[in-house]
Amino acid sequence: MKRKKIWALGAVLCLGMQLLACGKRQTAGEEKIHVGVTYYNQSDTFLNQLILCLRERFEEMEQEGFEITITVRDAAGSQKTQDDQVKELLDAGCNVLCVNLVDRADPSEIIDLARENDVPIIFFNREPVAGDMMQWDGLYYVGADAKQSGVMQGELARDVIKENSSIDRNKDGKIQYVVLEGEPGHQDAIIRTENAVDTLKANGIELEKLECGIANWNRAQAQNRMMQMVSQYQNKIELVLANNDDMALGARDAYEKLNFTESALPVIFGIDGTDVGLLAVAEEKLSGTVYNDKEGQALAMAKLTIALVTGKGMEDIPFVNEKYVYLTYYKVTMDNIGDYLKQDEE
Ligand code: GAL
Ligand code: CA
Repeated sequence: MKRKKIWALGAVLCLGMQLLACGKRQTAGEEKIHVGVTYYNQSDTFLNQLILCLRERFEEMEQEGFEITITVRDAAGSQKTQDDQVKELLDAGCNVLCVNLVDRADPSEIIDLARENDVPIIFFNREPVAGDMMQWDGLYYVGADAKQSGVMQGELARDVIKENSSIDRNKDGKIQYVVLEGEPGHQDAIIRTENAVDTLKANGIELEKLECGIANWNRAQAQNRMMQMVSQYQNKIELVLANNDDMALGARDAYEKLNFTESALPVIFGIDGTDVGLLAVAEEKLSGTVYNDKEGQALAMAKLTIALVTGKGMEDIPFVNEKYVYLTYYKVTMDNIGDYLKQDEE
């Protein structure tokens, strides 16, 4: 609506002054893009890499002639801080917001602020519940399908287990496993776990769950949880399913700290394909990971940002249910790790 008014004003000026220059690109700051980004916590490895990608995409778009300013804020794990940041970003004149919610169940304050200012929001990575997404038509989400990543992790584990009978170390025909889970209430925690486990079962792998420990995506917390589990189950653990790479690496850290020999370790799987995660796959420290396409997510966010401000290019965005963009995941193993390491260097 705002944009229409600006256009109308431009048209009136144009007629009145009979200037040919009118109606060209610089019309009333039409293409000045000021993006305000806030994310839940700067200690998160995957999010930091995603934000870096987003900055790079916007830099490329600047080279294509768009005038872009990007302001990034770390909410440091506090929803209240994030609400204040959104207020500040709106006061500073942002015309699009990219919000990675601290509490994905509590976006109402942010939605109200954005609506009052008629500034659209692109939520990303931490998906608001469907009911909240319906609160206003200026709300979008860019992320990935949690279920797909869980299924893929299960398939990776199935392949390794089927190829390698020594993984069933005690030869009881079952795979004793533990799970390292992300934040409770996060769409990528429980859904990944359920689907990885269900996929293994559906593929005829007999499982015995020993324990599920919450480690909030965090490597150090995962190391702690894993130390406890190893002290309890000793060498009984044959498989570790971690909801992300950092926690998978935390599990690895625990075994290294306890001086386990390589052959006594369980197989460990992560999700994300962060730089450290990919390196660990290349070094055979992790048996596989699932690539969380941060480049694709960043590009979708950047394109949507431009489309929302300029009103052009909206039809090129592959929306599901008019508001959602889901990027696909990819399986990464020793066999194709080269493609991913290279991609990361570029
Ligand atoms: C997930 C990712 C985790 C963590 C989390 C934060 O998609 O796999 O590593 O970054 O998002 O919301
Ligand atoms: Ca076994």
